[in-house]
Amino acid sequence: MIVAGPKLVELDGVEKHFGAVRALGGVDLRVERGECLGLVGHNGAGKSTLMHILAGTAVPDRGRIVLSGGNQQKALFARALGSDARIVLMDDPTRGVDVGTKLEVYDLIREEAQAGRTFLWYTTETDELKQCDHVYVFRNGTIVADLRRDELTEQKVIQSSFTEAS
Ligand SMILES: Nc1ncnc2c1ncn2[C@@H]1O[C@H](COP(=O)(O)OP(=O)(O)OP(=O)(O)O)[C@@H](O)[C@H]1O
Ligand SMILES: [Mg+2]
Repeated sequence: MIVAGPKLVELDGVEKHFGAVRALGGVDLRVERGECLGLVGHNGAGKSTLMHILAGTAVPDRGRIVLSGGNQQKALFARALGSDARIVLMDDPTRGVDVGTKLEVYDLIREEAQAGRTFLWYTTETDELKQCDHVYVFRNGTIVADLRRDELTEQKVIQSSFTEAS
């Protein structure tokens, strides 16, 4: 279970198994803002598994993870941009992220797109849709509209959402 909370990172009894292998056997851990925390241990001790769980790319079997609002989103986003991925898939990337950071993220995405990186973005926020070059509107499993950036309005999106594909 991942919940948003005031602490930066807090893990309680986090367990992760891969088949019969116990990668994490009940991890309790706290990280404070501004802290630089080291992880050390022999091969297979569970370090990478812990990182994956924090980044949201692995789901614990048991235990509780508390992340400060939007922290998980930021971690995922940073991870995507830090890689050399040519295409980045984003599922509501700024959910829970504060307004200032959102604007920074939009700038960053535009910059990265200009530099040749491709973004595929699911969002419900009109502000975010306006960052896209064009937007496909889905309804009942089909694309019912293709709106260019310059013609995109909230009204058009809503209108299209209620229109059947022709
Ligand atoms: N995707 C996976 N499928 C099956 N077993 C896995 C998977 N990921 C990790 N494991 C197992 O979980 C245990 C913990 O692995 P993990 O990669 O977290 O360790 P690590 O501390 O990062 O090791 P290393 O120092 O070698 O990077 C190991 O026994 C590993 O083989
Ligand atoms: Mg590792």
